[in-house]
Amino acid sequence: MKKIVVLTSGGDAPGMNAAIRAVVRSALHEGLDVLGCESGFIGLVENRFHAMDSFSVANCIQRGGTILKTGRSKEFFNKEVRAAVIQTLKKQNVDGLVVLGGDGSFQGARILHKEGGPPVIGVPCTIDNDITGTEYTIGFDTARNTGLQAIDKIRDTAYSHDRDFMIEVMGRNTGHLALDVGMAGGAEIIVTPEFPISAEKITKIIEERKRKKLISIMVVAEANHPGHSLQLAEKIKQLSGIEYRVCILGHTQRGGIPTLLDRKTATLMGYEAIQALLAGKNGQMMALVGEKILCVNFPSADDATRYLPNDTLLKINSTLNPL
Ligand code: F6P
Repeated sequence: MKKIVVLTSGGDAPGMNAAIRAVVRSALHEGLDVLGCESGFIGLVENRFHAMDSFSVANCIQRGGTILKTGRSKEFFNKEVRAAVIQTLKKQNVDGLVVLGGDGSFQGARILHKEGGPPVIGVPCTIDNDITGTEYTIGFDTARNTGLQAIDKIRDTAYSHDRDFMIEVMGRNTGHLALDVGMAGGAEIIVTPEFPISAEKITKIIEERKRKKLISIMVVAEANHPGHSLQLAEKIKQLSGIEYRVCILGHTQRGGIPTLLDRKTATLMGYEAIQALLAGKNGQMMALVGEKILCVNFPSADDATRYLPNDTLLKINSTLNPL
C-alpha cells in the first residue's frame, strides 16, 4: 500500500477534523502518500484531489465542520459514474480509501467496494449516533452537549415567564439525541420516533398534572420531519389551550468546537483505520463496541440504522420527572 485517499461525506459532524488529522498523520507515519478528496463523493466524481502533508491538518483538531468539505452526491447513485470513479482511482494508483461519514456514506463506500474499488475503511461520523454495528459515532457528544446547553438557557426564560417550552432536536429518524438531551436537561416529556406519543396523549398527560411545575420542558425528535414540533405544539394548544413555545435547534447542533470525547474517539478511530488498511482489511468500518475500538463489517443496506433498542430509559425519565 502506497497511496490513500481520505474524504468526509454526508452531514458534517464535530470531530471530523480530528479524524482527518489522525488518518493523515498515521498514514504519513507509515510512509504512505495521502490525497484529500474535497466535498465527499462529489469530489470523487469530479476528480477533486489534493496532496496532504502533516501541515495540512495543523490547527484543525479543535475546529468543527470539515476542512475537506462534505456533500451528498446524487450522481454517485449512477453505476456508470461509479465505474468511472473506480478507473480514476486506479489511474491515480490509489490503493486505499478512508470514508468519514454516516449511514448514507457507508452505503456508498460499500457499493464502491463491491464494484471493485480500492480497499475501503469507514470511520463513523454523524451527530445522530445511528449506525448499526457501533455504539458511538463521532459528533454525537458535541451535538448532545449543544442541545443541553440550549435547554439550560431556555430554562431561564421558562422560569422567568412561567412558560412551557418544546425543544426540537435533530437525529434523523432516531431518538438517540432526543433521549440524551431530554434526560440530561430534565425534560418531563421526551418524544422519539421509536416511541412516539400522540398530541392527544401528550395533552392528557399535561392536563392530568398533579402540580404546577416550576419549569416545563418537552424534547421532541425531528423524526425525519424537521419543524414538525410547530404543528405538534399547535395541536396541543387546540386541544388544551396550553401554549408551548417552540425552539427548533436545527443545524446549531452540527457545528461548534468538538468535545474531548469526540476528539479522542476520532483520533483513535482515525489511527486504527490506517492500521486496518495496512492489515489488509476492506469493506469494514471502525466501531466502538463496549470499551474497544474494533473493525467490523459495514451494516447491510436493510439494517443500516441503529434505533433506540427499548423504552427503558424513557420510562426512568418519566419516573424522575413526574407531572
Ligand atoms: O445526519 C445528520 C443530520 O444533521 C440529521 O440529524 C438531520 O436529519 C440531517 O442531517 C439534516 O440534513 P441537512 O443538513 O441536509 O439538512
